[in-house]
Amino acid sequence: MASSLYRGRLGISMETDTLSYLSSLEEDVWIVKEDLLGSISHVLMLAEKNIINKEDAKKILSALLELWKNFPPILQTKEKYEDIHEYIENFVVSHAGIVGKRMHIGRSRNDQVALDLRLKVRKELVEVMRLSLEFMGSLLKLAEKYEHQIFPFYTHLQQAQLGLLSHYFLSYFDAFVRDFERLKFSFRITNFSPLGASAIAGTRIPLDRLYISKLLGFDGLIENSLDAVSSRDYMLDVLNSLNSLMLNISRMSEDIVIWSTMEFGFLEIGDEYSSVSSVMPQKKNPCVFEIARARCSKVISSYLYFTSILKGLPSGYNRDLQETKIPLINAFLATKNTLQILSKAVSSLKINEKNILKHLESGYIFAVDLAEILVEKFNIPFRDAHRIVGRLVHYCIANELKLTEIPENIFKEISSSILGKPIKLPTELRAFSTNPVEVLKKRRVVGSPSPKEISRMLSERKERLKKLEEEVYILSESLEKIEENVIENAKKFLGSSNRE
Ligand code: ARG
Repeated sequence: MASSLYRGRLGISMETDTLSYLSSLEEDVWIVKEDLLGSISHVLMLAEKNIINKEDAKKILSALLELWKNFPPILQTKEKYEDIHEYIENFVVSHAGIVGKRMHIGRSRNDQVALDLRLKVRKELVEVMRLSLEFMGSLLKLAEKYEHQIFPFYTHLQQAQLGLLSHYFLSYFDAFVRDFERLKFSFRITNFSPLGASAIAGTRIPLDRLYISKLLGFDGLIENSLDAVSSRDYMLDVLNSLNSLMLNISRMSEDIVIWSTMEFGFLEIGDEYSSVSSVMPQKKNPCVFEIARARCSKVISSYLYFTSILKGLPSGYNRDLQETKIPLINAFLATKNTLQILSKAVSSLKINEKNILKHLESGYIFAVDLAEILVEKFNIPFRDAHRIVGRLVHYCIANELKLTEIPENIFKEISSSILGKPIKLPTELRAFSTNPVEVLKKRRVVGSPSPKEISRMLSERKERLKKLEEEVYILSESLEKIEENVIENAKKFLGSSNRE
């Protein structure tokens, strides 16, 4: 049976199974460090403001620092404590003695956990940013490696227009830049300190909220005390940015799964990232990409789980909020793991140029290019050109011909039936299949997969990546410094004289 520091109001203590049901200790392991940083900062502030005396503060800080150095495994204590805050407070009281009970002055677990979560979330966000840049780096390398590799692009999963494989990788790079911006925005709205709000409506103890906010490197306060303990909406943005990132990853994974099939055979996944079948010896399964595709659902459901906890919840702190940690933990873990593995797995992709060319043999993929040549050469409306080419393709399919092999007389016949007079077959058509890059060279419009545009986009994106990497480096260094600084301040405080 459990005994608690907090249960003065109640007569009977809680049964262990009830406590175990309520306890968040398991997921609180996620915020241990943040909880300690928060408590250390709070105690430093209490001492600075002479709310507790230096001697007492030192005793409390040395117990907290002991935990910081060496946090014991706590999972087996789930039946004894409702959460990590209770566990740590008990530890402090048992190590610092009766003065440990002063640690919580002016603070509630409500603002305490709100602080811990914001500290943890901002750190996790920076880690996701770092990993996403790593992944984006892998995509850029592939774009560079296959800069000139021609590739069919699909709409409705039907061959649509010819492009370059580099264009594909660059398209996802750009999508991940937007996800990066979402992560950055999430960081911005996370980085405010709720501490000092107490349970819900502030405290008469003269705390210095700004002292803590500054010490912990926040951009300011969640000022309104009710808002500070109630609000978790920032997590919606966090989960949404992870969601968007994972949705992009899952779509990419699906492409890779499709293109690695025997039927397409455009690429092969490295053996080290492939699985086999226990029955069918011929199989090489794209399991890493399938799991990535599915792992996305964990993030989607985390968003849903989280939103449904918030829906209709009364203002103020409610214990339901404890459960919001679970979707956050799951979503961050799924995203980080996926990014880590996929950065390596995509680098293992080998392109099969021969198969790609084989799929382009019919030449139908050049239909739009041909129609546009007709528009340019003969000054005919695009709708007429579209009709002519549509009829040509129809004829080719019926007669098992490639578009590039269309007989001159058929071209004349079809064009004159639509235009009222025949036109000449453009000479470029015959060379489409043998020299497809020439076709791409003509697509000069910004953002098209012409070799020139690709080369421009590629070098721009490389610069962009470098800048983003610098940003993340600075951000993660500054978070590390903040932690070191809090611990240093606590150690200095311990070494200072009690009379200073
Ligand atoms: N374990 C709780 C959580 O994670 C801490 C806050 C508890 N507050 C309370 N009033 N019971 O949200």
